[in-house]
Amino acid sequence: MRNGLFVTLEGLDGAGKSTQIRRLAEQAQILGIETITTREPGGTETGDAIRAILLDPRFRTMTALAEAFLYAASRTQLVHEVIAPALAGGKLVICDRFLDSSLAYQAAGGGLDFDFVLAINRRAVRGCMPDRTYILDLQPEMGQVRKGETPADRVEQKPLAYHRRVRDGFLQLAQLYPARIRVLDATLPPDELFARIWEDFAPLLKKLRK
Ligand code: TYD
Repeated sequence: MRNGLFVTLEGLDGAGKSTQIRRLAEQAQILGIETITTREPGGTETGDAIRAILLDPRFRTMTALAEAFLYAASRTQLVHEVIAPALAGGKLVICDRFLDSSLAYQAAGGGLDFDFVLAINRRAVRGCMPDRTYILDLQPEMGQVRKGETPADRVEQKPLAYHRRVRDGFLQLAQLYPARIRVLDATLPPDELFARIWEDFAPLLKKLRK
């Protein structure tokens, strides 16, 4: 049973996902829609422990395959504990990153086979696919500037070429799944970016009112 609405935001670090997620949640709550926001990797106790491993700069030698399994492990726990129950309860679920991040980072960026990463993630999400996904598109150089002086985590420390492949991976996903994915220019002023997201998103809310 699934009566809720599931939205994910994707993009390189520094694209401004958290600002847009906060605004989306605020706007939905103003309309009286029961909303939960969550993030990946993490969002559960198990997932937060996995997140700490994934982002720890000590694990420089972690392979793309090890990463793919760890992200999928965190994801399946989040679906089981948080996302599936919320959707069953008719809520709006807004998630900061989901399986498209694994397809972009571990497959396009890390060089793993796309179909393999998709297969483990299909199993991990147990049919819980987003109704809509917004990719906030940005050149990797810009993302790094926006992140500023905060110390880089293990993923951010990867070379620029990796982040370029990730960005291209996201754009290819949008072509592969045009019914689900919308690409937006992350360099737009935040208000304008939000207006574009909302314009696309508002009609989807009908699904919750049925
Ligand atoms: P995020 O929480 O967005 O990082 P931050 O807290 O620095 O904003 O995500 C952590 C990193 O994990 C991010 O650089 C992207 C990466 N990632 C993957 O490589 N694969 C995945 O499946 C997910 C969900 C994230």
